[in-house]
Amino acid sequence: MRVDGRPMRTLWPAPGRDALFVIDQRALPHRLAVARLDDAAAVHRAIRDMWVRGAPLIGASAAYGLALQMNVAADDAALESSAQWLKQARPTAVNLAWALDRLLAVLRPLPPAARRDAAWAEAAAIAEHDVAVNAAIGRHGLALLQAIAAKKGGASVNVLTHCNAGWLATVDWGTATSPIYQAHALGLPLHVWVDETRPRNQGASLTAWELGQEGVPHTVIADNAGGHLMQHGQVDLVIVGCDRVSARGDVCNKIGTYLKALAAHDNGVPFYAAMPTSTLDRSLHDGLAEIPIEERSAREVTHLAGRNAAGEVVEVQLVPDGSTAANPAFDVTPARLVSGLMTEFGVVAADADALRTLGEGA
Ligand code: MRU
Repeated sequence: MRVDGRPMRTLWPAPGRDALFVIDQRALPHRLAVARLDDAAAVHRAIRDMWVRGAPLIGASAAYGLALQMNVAADDAALESSAQWLKQARPTAVNLAWALDRLLAVLRPLPPAARRDAAWAEAAAIAEHDVAVNAAIGRHGLALLQAIAAKKGGASVNVLTHCNAGWLATVDWGTATSPIYQAHALGLPLHVWVDETRPRNQGASLTAWELGQEGVPHTVIADNAGGHLMQHGQVDLVIVGCDRVSARGDVCNKIGTYLKALAAHDNGVPFYAAMPTSTLDRSLHDGLAEIPIEERSAREVTHLAGRNAAGEVVEVQLVPDGSTAANPAFDVTPARLVSGLMTEFGVVAADADALRTLGEGA
């Protein structure tokens, strides 16, 4: 997508294959910063500390991290231990393991001397695959937006989204935002309610920024406002991303997603999750019981960063000295609350039968 009118992706390899460049998302929305990651340790840190974030992007980043490792040591022990270590950078999004397992399947049968070239080629293929998959999700989701627009007789379609499942969370296009960008490009009138998404505010700082760069009309709302807007007919559909989906269609996504699904269910508002199949974890059945939920630092809850009147980014404390805070970073929305999953193969039901055969014959 575009930044200041110029096309950009969230990551790209250095021409000499000795580094990975990424947008450092910690600086947004106040500044566009690009970081150079020189080795697998730097990539691990960038994932763990959320310089890069979002399920598909951490998968693609990790793939390049393993390719960087192959520059310096490509024997079996280095390959296995680096892949395991990168997988541990964040626990919830399954794309991280998916991308590394895809790379391992290519590299394991090769002699160490052949692994470097193969790793860089496969990491690039994973990144390109992400772009193509997200574009396809957008085409399928677009049909839903067009159907709603037709029913509304040309009035603006109101979409609510949570967290950032935009192009910043992927290599390009985004998942939840891909139908939105494609509809906007076709001139379909739409407006996006952007949940701020406490505690890290990925909606307020990232989704709002990228929608603004593309000229998509949007309004940032406090996380608590969504239910009220749905009760008053101001939300036509909800589209969220996901970090892991179980075999029966339970959707794990950023904390607060479940509450939006409950409110949508109560108000008859369709609730969709945009899901590349790399986010489907067929090894898990009961998402609520089996998906590991990342517990992040309490400081993300007790403190907040923002730009002051002097233009400086400062951090302030929100809570009394001595108050403790808990910070579960994801929740699981049961499949029964999910109207459908927007995938690269089409929009499918969130149930075991639909997911068992998803992508077969493709
Ligand atoms: O903790 P984050 O910011 O990495 O969480 C990201 C989300 O929950 C996204 O909505 C999800 O990964 C989908 S990204 C296309």
